[in-house]
Amino acid sequence: MGKYVERFNARERILHWFVMLSFFMLVFSGLGLYSRIFHGYFDLFGGGEAAIFIHKYMGVVFFVSSILLFLNHYKEMNSFDEDDRRWFRLLGGYLDRDPEHINSGKFNAGQKAYGLFMGIATILLGVTGFINWFPASFPIGIVRLSLLLHGTLFLIFIMFVIVHAYLTTIGNPGTLESMIYGNVRRIWAKTHHPKWYKEISGQ
Ligand code: HEM
Repeated sequence: MGKYVERFNARERILHWFVMLSFFMLVFSGLGLYSRIFHGYFDLFGGGEAAIFIHKYMGVVFFVSSILLFLNHYKEMNSFDEDDRRWFRLLGGYLDRDPEHINSGKFNAGQKAYGLFMGIATILLGVTGFINWFPASFPIGIVRLSLLLHGTLFLIFIMFVIVHAYLTTIGNPGTLESMIYGNVRRIWAKTHHPKWYKEISGQ
């Protein structure tokens, strides 16, 4: 019996890194559009015009890859069982000194909620981004609402991504290996996702 079990195939990993890289390009090219205080970030792209150009086309890359990632994991994320409800009741154990490991499947309830939020937020960011791209084609009231929604969604999104990046690295050592190598240590799988481990190993 090998030391590792497969968690994500190459296609899933490439998709995730596309989402992640395009997301950060969008953040840095968009900061200057968000507020004057961040205009300095335009210099990273050689000026405001270039940053806006990159923001638009990276938006398309992000939209397509994030939707594909969402569709890929949708089946594993759209149902919550009794163990998931327990996860929510205990807030994943993150507020306990000696947390109980909940009997989670491939994704725990927090990951499922995060994945579902990302899918819905991507659609809304895409729709509002499209309106912002072609403002002359829409009534001014719609464009204003769209700009407000786009900025607000971005704020919520970035907060979730910071928490996600922490939990998949320093917060839970061993997790990042799944996105780099595609597999994880058996002990990691048994500890964090016991129900999933049982399913794939029969143990
Ligand atoms: C520094 C940035 C990021 C890091 C280090 C990171 C890392 C990871 C890792 C290691 C996993 C696998 C978790 C597991 O095996 O249980 C994962 C899953 C996932 N990531 Fe990321 N990620 C980052 C950014 C993003 C961004 C920007 C998005 C979307 C906008 C995203 C969306 C997802 C989704 C939907 C999953 C699958 C479900 C989940 O774990 O919640 N990630 N990420």
